[in-house]
Amino acid sequence: MTQPQIPHEGESVSIWQKDFEMIRFMPLHRDVDADVCIIGGGIAGLTTAYVLMKEGKKICLLEDQEIGSGQSGRSSAHFSVALDRTFQELENIHGTEGTKLIAQSHMAAIQMVKDIVFQENIACELETVDGHLFTTGKIKDGIEQELQAIHRAGIENAHLESSSLLPFHTDGVIRLPNQLQLNPLKYLKSLAEIIQRKGGKIFTHTHAKEIHGGPKARVITGDGYKVSCKTIVIATNTPVNNWISVHHKQTANRTYMVSALIPTGSVPRGFFSDPLESNHYIRIQSHDSSHDLVLIGGEGHRTGQEIDPESNYARLEKWSKDHFPQIGIFQNRWSGQVFESVDGLAYLGHNPFDQSNVYIITGDSGSGMTHATIGAMIITDQLMGRVNPWVELYSPSRMKLKSIRELVRENIRTVTQYAEWLKEKKIEEIDEIPLGQGSVIRKGIRRIAAYKDENGNVDLHSAVCPHLGGIVKWNAAEKSWDCPCHGSRFDCHGKVIEGPANRNLRPVRKSTIVPTPFLKKPTPPAEKTP
Ligand code: FES
Repeated sequence: MTQPQIPHEGESVSIWQKDFEMIRFMPLHRDVDADVCIIGGGIAGLTTAYVLMKEGKKICLLEDQEIGSGQSGRSSAHFSVALDRTFQELENIHGTEGTKLIAQSHMAAIQMVKDIVFQENIACELETVDGHLFTTGKIKDGIEQELQAIHRAGIENAHLESSSLLPFHTDGVIRLPNQLQLNPLKYLKSLAEIIQRKGGKIFTHTHAKEIHGGPKARVITGDGYKVSCKTIVIATNTPVNNWISVHHKQTANRTYMVSALIPTGSVPRGFFSDPLESNHYIRIQSHDSSHDLVLIGGEGHRTGQEIDPESNYARLEKWSKDHFPQIGIFQNRWSGQVFESVDGLAYLGHNPFDQSNVYIITGDSGSGMTHATIGAMIITDQLMGRVNPWVELYSPSRMKLKSIRELVRENIRTVTQYAEWLKEKKIEEIDEIPLGQGSVIRKGIRRIAAYKDENGNVDLHSAVCPHLGGIVKWNAAEKSWDCPCHGSRFDCHGKVIEGPANRNLRPVRKSTIVPTPFLKKPTPPAEKTP
């Protein structure tokens, strides 16, 4: 497999990351002052930085790895008014007036990205395309009712389309004109260059270790340097600054994607999704004169709650072949992390239970590109003292009555993950772990995350997640330790790569575990006979 030019958060490489040369920045090696310190170098952080700089704010952006190395570089990168939830569901939770605001905010995000790309002359393969919702028929009348809900939300140009648009049977397709798709890393690279050129400060490989709001707001880095600021924006997919307040309202999920070539024009360009039933999503884009590129995603599950991600890839490839018989060889496959809120919308704005000058962008709910852009707009208006009509809708402190049942159900699923502490499990010997794989082993009441590299060297860490004490599970596809409680992830050597945990897994000395053959003292050489 071709190695990507930027570090990333797993083993797999997305189609955008493959061979991409990202702009590099230095780590922070001194104390600095800024109006706003933004944590996170994905679309949420960079868009917020860009918009705030246009308002005259002095920006300092900190990124743990490299620009675009997180979920933005693993996205299908479409900007749509259609969310993961149907408009019928959204209307049930947020009311008709709420769905009007949802549609309005997503349309505004699409327009804003278009404006940025054209004003800044960004070459990022931007295409204005149509979005499509389809159903394969188990839900009778579902598509008609969905269209009515979309019209009630104010998206008047949505209409029913011929069912033969796709190469497989559907019982209806809704077309949503004038949506966007682009290459996310090219977009982020240009935003980073513009921010730097206009005087913004960006530092990569800089871990935000401590985050303090209030009158003396500051961020302390892992190397001990300080960013003093008036405002902090945490744009790290899931917030790393608070322990509970938002995390009990959203769940972390893995999603899988594959890409392949298909004959040019065999399927219209644009994207397609099936929110009523299977939740598969499809993006078609130009490739060359004879082929288009198709990206197909789905087969997701809650993070850390699936023991064999290979089977998810296998199901996704089978679904893709069954529905697109013209697919040849799969080119790439990768997975990503999606945070789903209990009511289908991201949490954008002032951080609940925190000082008044800390803001978050999280809970992308499968619409990370648009939600991140909306987050930048809301937070900018809040900082500039302007009225924004979407503040309440996306408020991180909201609690919708209609979503309480789902909130309770998801929190029960989270709590049951702590039962891993009590489960009687077969003790796995380290010798049984295959090369290049990991497993949680048990030593009395301790749970130890053991990884064996390709040379047989073993790396041991506590399997206890430093966020709130869940037991991590091995993700064989990404070679990472994933926490099933709130989705924290750590690389095979225990380094945190995804919050809410903000610390690494604690190392464990080899001598503290059960002696196994690989740890036995070498047998002393036989005494020499004279
Ligand atoms: Fe919360 Fe692990 S992510 S306990």
